[in-house]
Amino acid sequence: MVSCTAMIDRSDHVRTIRRLLRSFPAVALLGARQVGKTTLATNLARELGTSSRVFDLESERDLRLLSDPEPILSSLRGLVVIDEVQRLPAIFPPLRPLLDRKPLPARFLLLGSASPEVSTRGSESLAGRIAFHDLDGLSIDEVGESAWNRLWLRGGFPRSFTARSDAASMEWREAFLRTYLERDVLDVGLRMPPAELRRFWQMLAHWHGQRWNASEFARAFGTSEATVRRWLETLEGFFAVRILRPWEASIAKRQVKAPKVYIRDCGMLHAVLGVSTPQQLRERPQVGASFEGFVVEQAVHALGAKGTECHHWATPQGAELDLLVVRGNRRLGIEVKCTEAPQVSKSMEIAKRDLHLDRLWVVHQGKDRFMMRPGIEALPVTALPSLAGQLGR
Ligand SMILES: Nc1ncnc2c1ncn2[C@@H]1O[C@H](COP(=O)(O)OP(=O)(O)O)[C@@H](O)[C@H]1O
Ligand SMILES: [Mg+2]
Repeated sequence: MVSCTAMIDRSDHVRTIRRLLRSFPAVALLGARQVGKTTLATNLARELGTSSRVFDLESERDLRLLSDPEPILSSLRGLVVIDEVQRLPAIFPPLRPLLDRKPLPARFLLLGSASPEVSTRGSESLAGRIAFHDLDGLSIDEVGESAWNRLWLRGGFPRSFTARSDAASMEWREAFLRTYLERDVLDVGLRMPPAELRRFWQMLAHWHGQRWNASEFARAFGTSEATVRRWLETLEGFFAVRILRPWEASIAKRQVKAPKVYIRDCGMLHAVLGVSTPQQLRERPQVGASFEGFVVEQAVHALGAKGTECHHWATPQGAELDLLVVRGNRRLGIEVKCTEAPQVSKSMEIAKRDLHLDRLWVVHQGKDRFMMRPGIEALPVTALPSLAGQLGR
């Protein structure tokens, strides 16, 4: 169990970034605000021991310094960190010649608080020179198996997870929602009054884990479907929302075409729902949906899957699969059961057969890992980290 004040070891991420920095002149580390990017980059720069320089584009001074980046960046050696890079898309074209120097005097670590589309707008010219790595919220392997319950309740933002009490954690999350989320959304030019955004967020919390219904959202806000979709996709771009697009198998059955939506961080979901203790969580009707979202995020992280590789699947007759991850020929299924004693259902067998799943894991809250049927395995939530590598490269 991690003590309340300890730094949580994120060395898996550090190792990956170091490996990428060996093969690419630039690496973009992207993740939600407050997820730990600056901390990680600072530690990495210290660890590398070479000279390093950090620019923070949230500071007006650095923003001004780098508005003409070539003279200042070209003289630097070692590791150059540019934080909150989404603030200055104009930096990418002048960066390109600096990445093509031989030998390479400096490598660049770019930190961004939004998706590649937003963070690295204008980085097309860097194709092949830049690698991307997502910094997710804390994972079960980082906090330790025995703390999984706390991770579920509080979510994966380090400050929320390590707060000295559940109440303090909840306060931190409420403040986070009021400040960062609202500011970021305004920054990208969504003209959405804060009260409206809060109400949208509330409605999403109640729809967490369900199929997105644009017309209901549009009606509730007295606006168009295109508008509510843009709101949703903006939140996705800030790593706040996960949209699981539907998978369409080539079978002669009708299949559901609506995506499923989740608030990515379960701690944020609980903050919006007013759930601050384990008991409140257990008593809420949303407990199953909350557990499902938690498992989806942890599974996606463990598998190392990209957002575009993740889907849900359902038929109007009621067969469904919570998470389908597809890479090349590999097809992995995750079905989530908020119970300690999962059982094989008809729906699981249909999904296994119709989707040609290589494996189907039924993730549950109990302790036992066992084969339920050939190819269908019961997996304790604490064993999710063992899925690493299952997707292949
Ligand atoms: N591994 C960690 N363990 C404990 N606290 C952390 C860890 N990483 C970050 N934090 C804390 O979380 C907060 C946000 O971290 P920061 O690196 O500034 O996030 P970001 O740059 O992604 O916005 C800081 O208060 C930091 O001290
Ligand atoms: Mg930062």
